[in-house]
Amino acid sequence: MSTLLELCPRCEASILKRVEVAHDIDVSGSVVRLPKVQAEECPACGFRSLSGREVRLFDVLFAPQYGTIRELIAALRTAGYVGMFLRQDRTESALAFGSRSYVRELDDGVRDLYLDNESSHVIEGLGAVGEGWVPVELASRRLTVKLPRLGEGENGIVYDVKEADDSVLKLAKPRPYSRNHLREEHEFTEFFASHGIPVPEIVDADPHGSFMIKKRLAGESLARVYETLGPPDAPLHRLVRATTERFIATLLELFVTHPEVKTSVSPNNIFVLLEDSTCRCLLVDTGPAPLHDYSRFSFAEYWETTIPQKIRQYRAVGYL
Ligand SMILES: Nc1ncnc2c1ncn2[C@@H]1O[C@H](COP(=O)(O)OP(=O)(O)O)[C@@H](O)[C@H]1O
Ligand SMILES: [Mg+2]
Ligand SMILES: [Zn+2]
Repeated sequence: MSTLLELCPRCEASILKRVEVAHDIDVSGSVVRLPKVQAEECPACGFRSLSGREVRLFDVLFAPQYGTIRELIAALRTAGYVGMFLRQDRTESALAFGSRSYVRELDDGVRDLYLDNESSHVIEGLGAVGEGWVPVELASRRLTVKLPRLGEGENGIVYDVKEADDSVLKLAKPRPYSRNHLREEHEFTEFFASHGIPVPEIVDADPHGSFMIKKRLAGESLARVYETLGPPDAPLHRLVRATTERFIATLLELFVTHPEVKTSVSPNNIFVLLEDSTCRCLLVDTGPAPLHDYSRFSFAEYWETTIPQKIRQYRAVGYL
């Protein structure tokens, strides 16, 4: 992640606040409580998640001053999770996602911690490099990603890749909510495509949701295009506005008949493709946003107020 600030992945309305909470981990049937763990909380909707990137939970697990955590370590060792710690301890600089069969076999109580830690290691590693081409080991292949990143949203960070210039790599942010978002994105992409909504094809997806390879969409996000459209009465502005209005109307109709595929129509999720004098809209992010309520949606308000507000928010957190 490029900044210390994050927007809430659930309601998208507020910047997450850092809080300290107790966290229980269920390991092979026994619950171990970590008394003080950093988490992020949304003041608007109450969403809360461990702060995967900051918490360095695995370092905490090893801190000798916590008696209860010693118990946890003992429990983990007894349960045979030594390999996981070896992974975390290794010092070679490879940015890597480990074997997915290994992840699958982890105890449920530990799997999300492992995945948070793995993603945060890769994302922070890429952030530290900043610029250029960097190899990332996925479970089954190696890709070289381009820095700085191509795009970022509440749930993921997206990179161009050298091996396939028609594709991008999307990494989920280190929290269960965001991995679930990527898994559902995978699940619903075909639905949108078969209902006439242009979406990027998914080439490969991690079963745990940590990463996916998608086709690169032509065009640019509405968040990027919006301020280049000129005044409201300029022909380009009117063309893009009218196209977006029709596109969102189509999506909202689909969400009424199929509420389970309701996504966020945020300007980060809608792509605008201008060719000659024609304009098309595409949906870049098919991950559901169940908390969104479109029952009183007004396109005029969306275009005039919501989009500029969203752009300001994206800038504040560094997505744009
Ligand atoms: N397939 C793609 N092709 C081109 N750019 C993309 C693609 N997917 C994502 N991006 C860029 O990354 C940004 C965030 O992607 P998105 O899928 O919306 O992430 P999130 O799940 O975090 O909302 C997009 O606004 C866009 O700029
Ligand atoms: Mg998005
Ligand atoms: Zn929220």
